[in-house]
Amino acid sequence: MTETKTSAPSVIDVKADSQEALATSQFVHRKILLRLFLGWFFLSLTNGSIVLWLEISRFQQFVHALALKESAVLSGETPYDLEQLDRSTSQYLTNLAQQLVKRNFLVVELYDANKQLKIEAVRQGQETTEQWINSHRHQFPQRGDFFKEFHFTQGKLLLLILVPIKGPQHALIGYFEGIYQVDQETQDSIKDELLHTLLLIALSITFTTLLMYPIVLTLNRELTKLSTDLLTGNLELMNVMGRAIAERDSDTNSHNYRVTFYALRLGETVGLRHENILNLITGAFLHDVGKIGIRDPILLKPGKLTSQEFEIMKTHVTLGVDILKQSSWLSGACDVAHFHHEKYDGSGYPEGLKGEAIPLNARIFAIVDVFDALTSKRPYKESWTVHDALAELERDSGSHFDPQLLRIFVSIAPALYQEVTGIQESQMIAMVKRCISRHFLTTAIGAKPQSQMS
Ligand code: C2E
Ligand code: SIN
Ligand code: SIN
Ligand code: FE
Repeated sequence: MTETKTSAPSVIDVKADSQEALATSQFVHRKILLRLFLGWFFLSLTNGSIVLWLEISRFQQFVHALALKESAVLSGETPYDLEQLDRSTSQYLTNLAQQLVKRNFLVVELYDANKQLKIEAVRQGQETTEQWINSHRHQFPQRGDFFKEFHFTQGKLLLLILVPIKGPQHALIGYFEGIYQVDQETQDSIKDELLHTLLLIALSITFTTLLMYPIVLTLNRELTKLSTDLLTGNLELMNVMGRAIAERDSDTNSHNYRVTFYALRLGETVGLRHENILNLITGAFLHDVGKIGIRDPILLKPGKLTSQEFEIMKTHVTLGVDILKQSSWLSGACDVAHFHHEKYDGSGYPEGLKGEAIPLNARIFAIVDVFDALTSKRPYKESWTVHDALAELERDSGSHFDPQLLRIFVSIAPALYQEVTGIQESQMIAMVKRCISRHFLTTAIGAKPQSQMS
């Protein structure tokens, strides 16, 4: 690690860097773009479908009106008796029908009220269409109702209509049935208009979506700022509490930063899940916060504690939990605070938990706590070398410490110790603060933590 700063930056400096980096990170851009694309796709699909449906109904009504208008010569009120047609009337109606099939109708049929076919005209070459209408024989509608049905076959838009024919006094005397073919010109202009409308919709949705991008980006930046501000407040508070107990216990807060660093690295090495890492960080930082409730004669005793005094000292774990559970942000630290003096063989305090019954974070922390206690000077002891400290830890493998975790820690401890003691204390604190901020800030915006940066 190359460190050029000579004094520890405040939490705020660290936050500002990370905030900008995170707010503009590719991860966030990709996430926003993906959501906008999904929104664009959904809107295009729904709006496009609705408009398509509306337009089609509109054109159907238009075509229906055209067909009705043309068929009116045959389907309007007629004075003829369709059931008993005389020869000349029959001839007259057939002529009319034939005129219709010369225009836009392919087939025209007249039925009497008993649904018997009376008159028929088919455009030349459209006999197959007539067969088709017969094979698609529909039910006649309820007495006197209209019926219409669109078909799109062989590139042609066809409308099958059934129109009731009324005689004198509006009595139903029969039906007009016809297949109306929309002429090419009308069909083309319908298609053009439809495409035009859909294109306009697509364009306006795309334009709106593009407009949303910078807006969402700005909002996201503001939200990121807000959440990082909140987070910073919480981290500052955590520092204040750690500092408060450090002021009484020993003369610096550095023990809290060192054990947090060791615990974080050991947790990362054993592949702890991200949210466990966050609890491990707050837990490590505030593990001994309950010592604030231990009287000075015991807390600061230069020599060995009597067993009575040690019983009082042991209450620091439950005092700590009482303090931490007051805050939802810190309650995840309770595992470590409560169980960091449990031992793997069940001989620890306060609950005498054994093996895996001790929460993983507490098993991790127990190792780094004793390692730092041994390698530091205390009012009641001198500092030990790393070598001696690790030898002491290994003696207690399986009795005090989780053997698997201890083996891993022993392999990384010398390098970690070098990392935190090879630099000035203020630089060490700044470095650990950066680690802590990085882990929490990635959570604040929902990105995955970036691993191992320095
Ligand atoms: P601490 O100083 O932070 O020590 C944390 C833990 O490190 C201790 O938990 C113990 O497991 C381990 N540890 C510390 N020093 C030594 C050591 O010289 N040898 C070995 N093998 N392990 C050591 P523990 O025992 O539950 O103590 C909890 C806290 O009680 C300590 O926190 C310290 O504040 C206090 N304490 C413990 N023993 C004494 C003592 O003899 N005199 C005084 N004044 N305080 C003590
Ligand atoms: C700081 O906040 O930069 C000083 C670290 C401490 O609390 O001891
Ligand atoms: C660091 O190495 O400075 C921090 C890495 C991390 O946050 O995991
Ligand atoms: Fe403790």
